[in-house]
Amino acid sequence: MRENLVKDNIVITSALPYANGEIHLGHIVSTYLPADILSRFFRLSGKNVVFTCASDDFGTPILLQSEKQNITPQKYVEYWKERDLKDFTDLGIMFDDFQNTSSEKNIELTQYFFNQIHNNELIYKKEINQLYCNTDEKYLPDRYVLGTCPYCNEDNQYSDGCEKCGRAFNHSEVLKPRCAICQNQPVLKSSIHYFFKLSALSNKLKSWLDNNDNLQKDVKNYVIRWIEDGLNDWDITRDITWGVKIPLEEADGKVLYGWFDNHICYISTTINYLESKGINGKEFWNNSTIYHFIGKDIVYHHYLFLTAMRLALNEEYKLPDYIPTRGHLMLQGEKFSKSRGMYIGLRDFLNDFPADYLRYYLTRITPYDQSDVNFDWDDFQVKINNELVASIGNFIHRALSFTNSKYSNTIPEPKEYDKDDQELIELIQESKNKVRENIENNQVDRAMKNILDLSDGCNRYFQKKEPWKGNSENTIYLSINAVHSLGILLQPFMPHSTEKLFKSMNIEEKTVNWNNCGELYIKSNHKINKPEILFKKIEDKEISEQKEKLK
Ligand code: MF3
Ligand code: ZN
Repeated sequence: MRENLVKDNIVITSALPYANGEIHLGHIVSTYLPADILSRFFRLSGKNVVFTCASDDFGTPILLQSEKQNITPQKYVEYWKERDLKDFTDLGIMFDDFQNTSSEKNIELTQYFFNQIHNNELIYKKEINQLYCNTDEKYLPDRYVLGTCPYCNEDNQYSDGCEKCGRAFNHSEVLKPRCAICQNQPVLKSSIHYFFKLSALSNKLKSWLDNNDNLQKDVKNYVIRWIEDGLNDWDITRDITWGVKIPLEEADGKVLYGWFDNHICYISTTINYLESKGINGKEFWNNSTIYHFIGKDIVYHHYLFLTAMRLALNEEYKLPDYIPTRGHLMLQGEKFSKSRGMYIGLRDFLNDFPADYLRYYLTRITPYDQSDVNFDWDDFQVKINNELVASIGNFIHRALSFTNSKYSNTIPEPKEYDKDDQELIELIQESKNKVRENIENNQVDRAMKNILDLSDGCNRYFQKKEPWKGNSENTIYLSINAVHSLGILLQPFMPHSTEKLFKSMNIEEKTVNWNNCGELYIKSNHKINKPEILFKKIEDKEISEQKEKLK
């Protein structure tokens, strides 16, 4: 029933990483992994999926870093883009395309958005007093001012938003400002800025939220509260050189704030990718189910700024259907933080453990809501050893190695099924339906648990049938088919392992699709290859070494 609600064209994006540092597990948990699982699932189900991302290139922090290193900002962002993309690829995050917010196409589309919104009279200019540091002789945008949040009074917040209460605001609103470089109090100096009339779109935003049942209720409720409290117009101007130029002569080289152009890159990347395949990109975009995956710290930007900008263009580009939002990562029960050493970089992790272990563990512990997720090394070891190795890996290995040793790798001819055989067939089909339903509802953690329950059931079946005592044709025929079905269910979650699995089963991975799950697709006389061990136990020593690193 749900299936009809999802169109055959699917656009999936995940929040764009700043081209200013490495990818860490915090990024993966909320955003990239759930997006990748969903896109792999839809591909396997035969949908037309486009999964895109890009590096988020503009802004002061990036400009300053590149100056420090004496290279152009273009060179600087290119370095991080390549590095990030390599790390993503090694984790099996499979984007169709990965672009830059500073690409020509994105600049073009951003300026188009600006002009349209300007023509629709939703942008106005105003002389404002901008914070300026006399010591450093520069205007101080965003990250260069620290102060107190005007809404919740939390200190040490940047001037464009508060990490505590999640609100975004303009720099003139932040209380007790100080320069982040020299700690002196900045002065106010006047500058002409362009503002986007967010307030004028309040009603439209609210009714979009009210009418969209796909959005998570808890997020929707607090966004609606923000609207009811009254939205401020949004300053979209920055007095720096590294950004999209405001396409008006009078703007005198000023650039747009990075949050004006970055999410437009979802659209420009997706459309350009489609066009390169000879498909009408805009038509596809406007006739698809659209997902933007994010972490909870950028709710304001996606539920309000992004949405309002598309509304301001009268929905020339379709609004999202889903904005799946998940919480922050904690580590050993503490705040995840690089400066305090409570931190795991993605590359570090991949140097020590297989990518699929991370995919398995993070999926198991991450619910579809705003709650924070705790990465715990002991729990990681328990879940890998007791679940992935002892249940899923064990069943797969038993079935394949029995076929290898007792049937010379050839699948036997089944006889009449008994009650246990029938029950196994039903269990596979029921599990398939549960997994599908949970994935379609973004409950990938529950789907992973369904798969684990299935492998537990398969192990019980194998144990009960005692194939080693003879009369094992049905058991092996059905177990091999159960392994095949498990492989299909696991593929979106653990693609590296299922690639190996399908190889040992002598099945061309290209031919695998969701419908074959539960079908007894593998026929007798099919020959498998020599089985390989897919998962191996994590030793205590490996865990204690990781804990040492955190100190
Ligand atoms: N770079 C931003 C961050 O890390 C996310 C940008 S997502 C976008 O918070 F869609 F808006 F680009
Ligand atoms: Zn200063």
